[in-house]
Amino acid sequence: MQSILITGCNRGLGLGLVRQIIEKTASSRPRNVIATCRDVNKAAELQEIAKKHPNVHILKLDIRNTEQFEGFVEEVEAIVGPAGLNILFNNAGYAPKSTRINSVKAEQLAETFTTNTIGPIMLTKALLPLLKRAANDKNKISAIVNMTSILGSIASNTDGGLYPYRCSKAAVNMATKSLSVDLKNDGIIVTCIHPGWVKTDMGGSNAPMDVDVSCTGLLNFIDNLSKEQNGKFFQWDGKELPW
Ligand SMILES: NC(=O)c1ccc[n+]([C@@H]2O[C@H](COP(=O)([O-])OP(=O)(O)OC[C@H]3O[C@@H](n4cnc5c(N)ncnc54)[C@H](OP(=O)(O)O)[C@@H]3O)[C@@H](O)[C@H]2O)c1
Repeated sequence: MQSILITGCNRGLGLGLVRQIIEKTASSRPRNVIATCRDVNKAAELQEIAKKHPNVHILKLDIRNTEQFEGFVEEVEAIVGPAGLNILFNNAGYAPKSTRINSVKAEQLAETFTTNTIGPIMLTKALLPLLKRAANDKNKISAIVNMTSILGSIASNTDGGLYPYRCSKAAVNMATKSLSVDLKNDGIIVTCIHPGWVKTDMGGSNAPMDVDVSCTGLLNFIDNLSKEQNGKFFQWDGKELPW
């Protein structure tokens, strides 16, 4: 893997992914890890990692600010150069509380869709030229991995509720499928993955899985990505999930 860009790396699963990538053996370490966060001042651990590992580049990105993506892409291009971007991992996400049908608010739906669905689709669009550039090298991989959730699975929904989050992730799943069709001839693999129920700010302290366990699975999945996974929905251990 030459380069990977992960959004939302100041805490939770994004930070766990960066931590594990830099711990990998030198031979399989990506040349460039581009780790984004909204506020660099709230990313102390990420900054520590970047200080020790010059291949980790921190870029500021609020996924809702689509008008800033053009400048952001220029910053990414300056890092990856002619080799392009191999992997875009759309990880940043948001889940509001209290969203049963009697309490859900339009603003919650709008904010969650803007962050979880519109942002990743528009960022993918903006970064496509760099992903296509990477796909020209047939010996290397070019892929988009969208962090979704089992809560976005229509087939698995037996509990109801969670309108903003469930709907935004179901839409991410649909975007994954469309992208996989649209980009197949460009040689870009597009897939979406559920990380498990993980102990993070979003997952809460009752979650059964630690960040490290989930991230080991997610990175193992990425390391073994092939055209077989294109346009499909998986969980952290590689098991395929129903839409
Ligand atoms: N934890 C779970 O059990 C679980 C289960 C299924 C799916 N997921 C998915 O996994 C991904 C990571 O979740 P997590 O558990 O690590 O959550 P988390 O601990 O709450 O972290 C969320 C990350 O997303 C970033 N983010 C939120 N809004 C953003 C925005 N507008 N622009 C840029 N970054 C933004 C946050 O940055 P700030 O610090 O600036 O807010 C933070 O880095 C999400 O897509 C989530 O839906 C998690």
